[in-house]
Amino acid sequence: MEPADVRDDLTEVLLTEQQIHEKLAEISRRIETDYAGRSILLVGVLRGAVMVMADLARELKSPEVEMDWMAVSSYGAGTQSSGVVRILKDLDTDLTGRHVLIVEDIIDSGLTLSWLRANLESRGTASVEICALLRKPDAAKVEVDVRYVGFEIPNAFVVGYGLDYAEKYRNLRAIGILAPHVYT
Ligand code: IMP
Repeated sequence: MEPADVRDDLTEVLLTEQQIHEKLAEISRRIETDYAGRSILLVGVLRGAVMVMADLARELKSPEVEMDWMAVSSYGAGTQSSGVVRILKDLDTDLTGRHVLIVEDIIDSGLTLSWLRANLESRGTASVEICALLRKPDAAKVEVDVRYVGFEIPNAFVVGYGLDYAEKYRNLRAIGILAPHVYT
């Protein structure tokens, strides 16, 4: 769906579908250069990263690109992520000697990703890097080195392009700021 289909639920459109696609193309060119001659295992974090994964993977101009998926849940008080993570769905791929690129939708506290990276590194990978479409300011508080970041965004609750509120709005083509009346 388009932003116009949920106009009343958004305070603003932060990123259009075109801006997102241009950014993913730009990041893909960097990935192609950085991983030249090596095969990549893209690891998507369900469910938010589905759209980023689909578009990033198709933008990469090499057959040496595999995809696998993980689902994790982060325990925390209320909306605050604690960094204590449980694996709900693990990878099917053996990571020994693999160059892994974690694909994420958004980094907020960064706690989930920092745990995930350490977990994957402990499986004998050749390398583990992170690609996130969006990063919020709080991510700066945690030492998590993110190699590829699409956009730095303000500390607002955003939906669309895979990002949800109560499992809705993931199918919005753009990314928008959710209007407070939707969640209050
Ligand atoms: P953290 O970096 O461990 O705090 O957790 C990041 C996760 O929180 C993301 O993968 C999203 O699922 C969720 N999240 C954080 N900010 C937002 C937002 O603005 N909209 C939707 N989901 C969000």
